[in-house]
Order: sequence, then structure tokens, then C-alpha cells
Amino acid sequence: MFFSPGTVNSSITLTIFIILLIASFFSAKSLKNNSLRNLNEANIALTTMKVLVLLSLLNLTIFILGGGEPSVSSVFPWLNTGNLNSFLSINIDSKFIFFSSAALLVTWSIIEFSIYYMSADPNGNNFFRLLMIFLLNMLILTSANNIFLFFVGWEGVGFLSFLLISWWSTRTDANASALQAIVYNRIGDIGIIVVISGLLINTSSWDINSLSTNNISGFWVSAILFTSLIGAIGKSAQFGLHPWLPAAMEGPTPVSALLHSSTMVVAGVFLLIRMTTIITPSETFLNITLIIGALTAIFAATSAFQQHDIKKIIAYSTTSQLGLMVVSIGLGNPNVALFHICTHAFFKAMLFLCSGSIIHSHNNEQDLRKMSNISESLPITSSCLFLGSIALMGVPFLSGFYSKDLILELVVENPSNLISFSLAIIATLLTAAYSFRIITFCFLNNPSNPPINPMNEENPNLVFPLVRLAMGAIFAGWLIGAWLLNLPSLFPIGIVKAMPLIVTIIGATIVSSLILANNSNTTANTFFSKTWFYTSTSHIISSTITNATALTLTTRALDRGWSETAGGQGMFAVNSDLTKAQQITQTGYIKQYLLSISLIVVCILTTAMII
Ligand SMILES: *[C@@H]1O[C@H](CO)[C@@H](O)[C@H](O)[C@H]1NC(C)=O
Repeated sequence: MFFSPGTVNSSITLTIFIILLIASFFSAKSLKNNSLRNLNEANIALTTMKVLVLLSLLNLTIFILGGGEPSVSSVFPWLNTGNLNSFLSINIDSKFIFFSSAALLVTWSIIEFSIYYMSADPNGNNFFRLLMIFLLNMLILTSANNIFLFFVGWEGVGFLSFLLISWWSTRTDANASALQAIVYNRIGDIGIIVVISGLLINTSSWDINSLSTNNISGFWVSAILFTSLIGAIGKSAQFGLHPWLPAAMEGPTPVSALLHSSTMVVAGVFLLIRMTTIITPSETFLNITLIIGALTAIFAATSAFQQHDIKKIIAYSTTSQLGLMVVSIGLGNPNVALFHICTHAFFKAMLFLCSGSIIHSHNNEQDLRKMSNISESLPITSSCLFLGSIALMGVPFLSGFYSKDLILELVVENPSNLISFSLAIIATLLTAAYSFRIITFCFLNNPSNPPINPMNEENPNLVFPLVRLAMGAIFAGWLIGAWLLNLPSLFPIGIVKAMPLIVTIIGATIVSSLILANNSNTTANTFFSKTWFYTSTSHIISSTITNATALTLTTRALDRGWSETAGGQGMFAVNSDLTKAQQITQTGYIKQYLLSISLIVVCILTTAMII
């Protein structure tokens, strides 16, 4: 070859960025009052996506044929000052290449689906533009070699998520959820800001790739690792900062499918992947990460099980899978986390699109209990729903199987951590349980649709994306698993290999029979349906603390306290006392004035004589 594969890869990547940038700001306003007004930006977006998918697959092929060597290309010096060496540079390695191809394939389908889903929206044009700007930010984030550029992508993703969650801004819930997302993400941002500052203080470089921790003190190394963990907890909705993710389901379904299942929420995991491949993590850090991941997985799985909103169930299931990804980082295998990110993107996006199709067909009804019989009215959607669910559970030879089972086997290989092993197995059982809960309600419930059923799935914009993602859900695991470099090869004994499948079957059977037997509510149900009372207690506690500090510190101590006593009221009191004292002398009697003048004269004379 005339050019090295690295050069070709980075040129293609830059081209992708430029095309996205141009396409997102390109608009034609001429069709404004046309009934097809949405189609315009939508078609631009769709065509752009097709081109980009092609480019990214080309990128992937060249990368694999070129031997999979990572390369860094510096575009130009950026924020370069006296002692800071900083370049606008992108990092073309297997992580970026695999992620970007998966993300672009998924986004293509989601944008096509949005044409179907958002066709009645008067602001459709903006919607597509926001999705594309979002995608640009996500690609910047994953390709960035400069930690500050990473931060730009990170913030951009957060900001776009705010705009998209509050898309239906006439609903108070949507506004509240958008605020919730931005506030929780802010807490995570503190982490990444500390990472940036830590690197600047200690290495005077923002270059992720050539970062060397040799000259950094042990304190700062762990500070950088732990603060990036905080960033990941915020962005990837790990236990503690998770409530924003289910709340974000207020946004339109395509937004949930793109941002809250396959791209934005994995940014935190991606940060951990980047950090732990560069800095050798300490044992403590790995253990804490492992515990957080396992806790998230089990928490989200139990909560998902008791939700009634179909999108919330899928959202909690996303949180649970994110927990598994963090578990595999905690086990020291960031590549497996990346693998799960890529396979998860396909089937989770498909599950969301299926839920979108069901919701759309049920006149925006999201309550699972009111859905029924979709296997007859929406055959393609329901096949995809079933396929997505079993891929999620890790049924052999679908994508979930390759990545999720690898994580579970890694957990088994680490017998030191019995707790996280049990948590991961219970989470797997619950995955089957909540997936089959959706399936039982949607497929086996007695029909409750009106006789003249408005449902149909003839729109190609609905069918093609689903079918395409279904292909991904079937083949992605095998394809990526065969090519993704440096996957650990495990040869577990039969029982370990069969364990997830056995647990899955048990979970699915129990749940379906329970639902069909119509079980009633118990205390445990309330505990799980209120998501461990986490949101209610933590929000009450934090607002009580804020309120109490505001009242005692700001209002009582400052506003009505010191600033009153020393400021406004205090000045007034002193002045008025002085004035009153002075008024006593002003009696108006000429005798008193003469007397006081004489007294003064006597005083002066006496003083003069004494001196
Ligand atoms: C939500 O926020 C937007 C933008 O700030 C505002 O225009 C809209 O009125 C709000 N909606 C509600 C229901 O408060």
C-alpha cells in the first residue's frame, strides 16, 4: 500500500466527522408549510447515515486488513501553551473502530425508524439535526486522544441528551426528567474535571495515548482512577447516580434507543476502558468497580421486574447490562466490556424500537398491562421483540451469548469474589424474568384491543430498521467475537457454560407461570416496584438538607441575620439612636442655648488658664 493503514483510517474518520458536521447544519426551509415538512431534514439525515455506515465499514475493513495496529494522528496544535503540549489528535484503535461501526449501524436504523415515529411532529427537522449533532459528539468522545477533546464530546453528549429528553417540552414530566439527567450528569462531570486537572498538574500533557504514569505520585494515580470512576457512575447510570436513566424515558422512543441504550450511557464505560488500559489499576480500584457493577446489575434487574411501563423495563435492563460491563472492567478485562457494548447496542436498540412500535400502535399507551395479543397484529415487531429478549438473556448463538456469557464466565473464573458471582447469576435469572414478563403480557394476555384495530406495520421505515437490527442481534456477536482483538479465551467446564442458560430457563418459566396464575402484590413487590425506595429517599434527603441549609445558613444567618444587623437594619438603628440623642439637645429654649454657650466659654477659659 502507498499509505499506511493508519493514515487511511484517520482520513476516513475525519471525513466522517466533516460530513456529519455539514449535514447537521444543512437545512432547507422551503418546504416549511408542506405536509411533508419533516421529510426534508429526515432524508438528508438518512442519506448521510447510509454514506457514513459505508465509510465506517470501509474503515473497519482497512483496519482489520492492516493488522489492527492502533494509530494516533495529530491534526494541529490546540490549546498549546508554554508548558502544555496539547494537540487536537484522534486515536484510531480497535476500541474506536469497533464502537464507531456499531454506533453508526445502529444510528442508521434508528434515524430511519424516527421518520416513521416522528412523522406527526411539527419540529421534526430539528429532531434529526439534534440526533446528528449528538452522534458527532459521541464519535468525538470515542476517538479523542486529547482528554480535553474527550471532555468536549462528553459535555456535548450530556447537553444534547438534555435537549432530546425535554423534546416534548409541553409535558412537565419531560422538563423534570431532562433537568434530572443534567443534574446527575453534572455530579459525574466533577469526576472528569478532576481527571483533566490531575493530568495537567502532573504530566503537563493531555495526550491519553502517550500518558505515562511513571512520574506521577501514587496518590494522583489513584485519584485519577477513582474520579474517572465517579464520571463513569454518573454517565453510565451506575448505582447511586442511576435515577436519571429510567426518568429519561420521557423522551421520544428513538432518543431512548440511541442515547439511553447504545451510545451515550456507554460513554462512562468507555472512559473506564480507556483509563484502565493506560493506567494499571490497583487491586482496590478493581474490587470497588466490581462491587459497583454487580450492585447496579442486581439493583436494576430487580427494579425492572416490577415496572409496568414497558420503556422503563427496558431502561432498567440497560442499567443492568451497564452494570455487567462495569463488572468486566472490575475483573480487569476492558476488551470484554467493549465487546458487550457493541453487541448490546444492536439488540437493545431493537428492543426499544419494538417498544416504540407497540406504543405507537397502542395510541401512545406505555402500560404493559394494557397490551395484548401483539403477536397477531404486529408480527414483525413481536418476532423482533422475542429475538431481542432472548439475545439479551444470552441464549446460545445470538449476540448476547458471546459477550454476556464471557462476562459471566470471567466472574466464575474469579472465585475470590463469591458475592459478585451470586449477584451476577441472580441478575441473569432476573433478566430472563423481566424479559418474559414483557413477552407474556404482550403475547399471551387476553385480547383487549378494540375490534377495529388501527395497528399495522406496513411502513417500510418501521420494518427495515427492525429487520436490520435483528440481523445485528443474530450475527454481531459472532462477527465481532471472531475479529475483536485480545479477547480472553476461556474453556470453562460444561456446567459453568450451561449455568446461564439453565438459570435463564428457570427464570422464564417461573415468571410466565406466575403472571398467568395472576399473583397479587406483596411487600417485596412494593420494595422492588419503588426501585428500592432509592429515588424517594435520596431525593427527600437531599432536598431536606438543601432546604435546611438554605433556611439556617442563608436565610436566617445571613439574609435576616448578619447582613441585617450589620447592614441595612444595623445602620438604621445606629443612625436613629444618634439622631435621637442629638434631638434631646434641640429643645428650642433660648435660655438653654445661652446656658450651654456660657458653659462652653467657661470651659474654654478654664482650660486656657490651666495650660
Ligand atoms: C418546559 O421547558 C420549556 C423550556 O424552558 C418551556 O418552554 C416549557 O413551557 C416547559 N414546560 C412546562 C410544562 O413547564
